[in-house]
Amino acid sequence: MAKKTTRFICSECCASYPKWQGKCDACGAWNTLEEEVSSTAEGSKLSTGVKGRVLEFANLKGAPTVFFRLKSDIEELDRVCGGGLVKSSVILVGGDPGIGKSTLLLQAVAAFAKKTTQSGKPARCLYFSGEESVDQIRLRAQRLGLAEAPVSLASSINVRDIMETIEAGETPDVVVIDSIQTMYVDTVESAPGTVSQVRTAGNELIRLAKRKGFSLFLVGHVTKEGTLAGPRVIEHMVDTVLYFEGDRGHHFRILRAVKNRFGATDEIGVFEMTEKGLAEVKNPSALFLAERRGNISGSCVFAGLEGSRPMLVEIQALVSPSTGAAPRRAVVGGDNNRLSMILAVMEARCGLSIGSKDIFLNVAGGLRITEPAADLAVATALISAFTHLPVPADLAVFGEIGLSGEIRAVPQMDLRLKEAEKLGFSQAFAPARLAGKKTSFASNRLKVREPGHLKSVVDLFMGAKN
Ligand code: TYD
Ligand code: MG
Repeated sequence: MAKKTTRFICSECCASYPKWQGKCDACGAWNTLEEEVSSTAEGSKLSTGVKGRVLEFANLKGAPTVFFRLKSDIEELDRVCGGGLVKSSVILVGGDPGIGKSTLLLQAVAAFAKKTTQSGKPARCLYFSGEESVDQIRLRAQRLGLAEAPVSLASSINVRDIMETIEAGETPDVVVIDSIQTMYVDTVESAPGTVSQVRTAGNELIRLAKRKGFSLFLVGHVTKEGTLAGPRVIEHMVDTVLYFEGDRGHHFRILRAVKNRFGATDEIGVFEMTEKGLAEVKNPSALFLAERRGNISGSCVFAGLEGSRPMLVEIQALVSPSTGAAPRRAVVGGDNNRLSMILAVMEARCGLSIGSKDIFLNVAGGLRITEPAADLAVATALISAFTHLPVPADLAVFGEIGLSGEIRAVPQMDLRLKEAEKLGFSQAFAPARLAGKKTSFASNRLKVREPGHLKSVVDLFMGAKN
C-alpha cells in the first residue's frame, strides 16, 4: 500500500530531516528547510514479482573512448570545460544573481552556433530563458554584437513545452536553460525554485539530453537567503559544475570548474565584464597586479585554498612602535592565536625583536583565512613591514610554520602553484616537496623557492636591507 511520507529538505545542501527546524545542522543555513511529500510503497519497491534483467560485466581494460569536443573558441571557457563540449554532457553554471551567467552563456551559445559538429553540420543551438523575454535577450544580443548568430531563442518556464519543442525539431547540439530555478514541471505541486521542482526539472532535462545526445547548460543561481533551491540540489546529477564568481564592485569574473567528469577540476577561466559583454582575460597577471598598490612594504600575496578551490589573497601587515603598556595585536580576517605563534617563532627562532611592537594584520577583500598554510605569507608580510622593504609584486607565498621555525608542507601544493602561475606570478616561496614524492607541477614560468626555515626568509630581507 502506498504510504505518504513527509520530509524536510534543505534547499542549500539537500540534507533531509523528519521534522521542520529553523537551522540546517548540516550546512548551518537558516530557514532553508522545505517540505517534500513523497509516497512510497511499503517494503521494497522492487518486490513486485517482476524480474530484472541480468547485466553483462565488462573488464576494466579496454580502449577508452575519445570524445569529440565542440569548441567555442572562447579559450577561457573551452579550457574550463576540459577542452570543449562533450556530446550529451550536462554542465551546471552556478553563480550569484547578476554576476553575468546569462551574458556568458549567450556569448557561448552564439560562438557554438558558428561552429560545425563532428558530422560536419553547423551546430544547432537553442536558448530557453525562463527569466527574460525574447525581446530582452535580443536587446542584449544586439549590445553584444551577436544579433547575427544563428541561435534559436524561446522564452518559457514550462519544462513540458521545452521538452516537446526539443523533441519536435531537428536534434540540437547545444541547449541552454536559463535558469533551472525558473523551470516548472506541472506534475509537481510546489512552486518553481523549490527543491522538488528544481530536482524534477533537472532530472527530466538531463535525461532528455542523454537520450537525444545534446550538450545541456543549466544555469543555477546561488542564493544566500535560501528562498530558491541552490544549484547544489542538482550538482550530483550533472557531469560538470562550473561556478562563475566575482565581486560586483569589480570587473573580474572567474569561471571555475569544481566538478568535471570530462576534464580537470582545477582549471579557471578569467573574464572581464565590459560594456560589450565578457571579454577574455588572457593575461590576468597584468590586470591583477595593476589592482594592487605598488612598492609598499607589508603586503604579501598568499596562495590559498578555499575548499577545493585555489585562491590568491593579499595579506597586509603593519608594524608600529607600541605606545601602550602592552603591545596591540589586531587581526582582521585571520586567527589571533596563529599570529601570536608566528610572532613568537620570529622572535625566538629568527632573532627578530618584533614582539614589543603594535601589530595589525588584514586580509584584503574582506576574506577570512583559517588555513595554517597562510603562516608563511603572514610572516613574510610581517618581516616586510618590519624591515620597510616591499615584497616583490610577482611573489606568491604559502606554507605552514612549525614551532621551531621550519616550513611545513600543506595540502594541494601543486594546485596553489598552478594557480599562482595561472595568475601570472613568477616566483613562489613554498614548503619543500617531499623527497621521492613525484610532483606533477613543473613550470618554467614560475620559479619555486623552498626556504625550509623561516630564518632563511628573514635573512633574505635583512640581507637586502644591509
Ligand atoms: P547577467 O548576465 O544578466 O547576470 P546573471 O544572468 O548572472 O544574473 O549580467 C547582469 C549584469 O551584467 C548586469 O548588472 C549588467 C552587466 N552587463 C555588463 O556590464 N555588460 C554587458 O554587456 C552586459 C550584457 C551585462
Ligand atoms: Mg540571468
